[in-house]
Amino acid sequence: MFKVGLTGGIGCGKTTVANLFKSHHAPIIDADEIAHALVTPNSPALDQIIKCFGKDCLSPSGHLVRAKLREIIFNHPQKKKQLEDIMHPLIYAEIERQVQCLSSSYCIIAIPLLLETNMQSSVDHILVVDCIETEQIKRVQLRDQLDSQQINAIIHSQVSRDQRLAEADSIINNTQDNPQLAQQVNHLHHLFSKEAA
Ligand SMILES: Nc1ncnc2c1ncn2[C@@H]1O[C@H](COP(=O)(O)OP(=O)(O)O)[C@@H](O)[C@H]1O
Ligand SMILES: [Mg+2]
Repeated sequence: MFKVGLTGGIGCGKTTVANLFKSHHAPIIDADEIAHALVTPNSPALDQIIKCFGKDCLSPSGHLVRAKLREIIFNHPQKKKQLEDIMHPLIYAEIERQVQCLSSSYCIIAIPLLLETNMQSSVDHILVVDCIETEQIKRVQLRDQLDSQQINAIIHSQVSRDQRLAEADSIINNTQDNPQLAQQVNHLHHLFSKEAA
């Protein structure tokens, strides 16, 4: 199994690219989906979070109150590391478990924080979706209704565009419109299929 780690800054187009690989029937493993699924009511991950962050993070129905968790981390930045220490090992273990269940030649593993978590060695190939920062900010503004200050804070909490490009084995340029994007994915699909053979 040839493991392609798909990463890129917020709003650069990871989900858009993953969907294009899906149209080639490549299996997609999504770290964000895994992170959400890990904190369902009564899960071991949610138990650990509540022990660390307090019962205020739990709704009456036993669900994680994400807004409360975000507020705690915003007010106590050192708590962010504690949350990462709980979640990241569980996310990477679940990614590996899902990889073992696949029988395709290659798979796409969408991991927004692949470089930030220093887990480059967990994949065989690092595929970076890139776009210029002004475009990135515009897209996130449209999608998430955040103001430019909030978006800048997120961008600066991630590795720089230069570092991401330096670590890439291949780069998808997503500054332009979608037809060109599909062509780039098509080319990489054939490359990864051959690589895995
Ligand atoms: N090439 C593009 N041109 C215009 N808009 C795009 C393009 N690629 C993605 N978008 C839009 O930008 C937003 C961010 O893309 P998305 O794939 O969700 O990014 P990510 O998953 O990296 O955060 C989405 O609303 C998406 O539809
Ligand atoms: Mg996404």
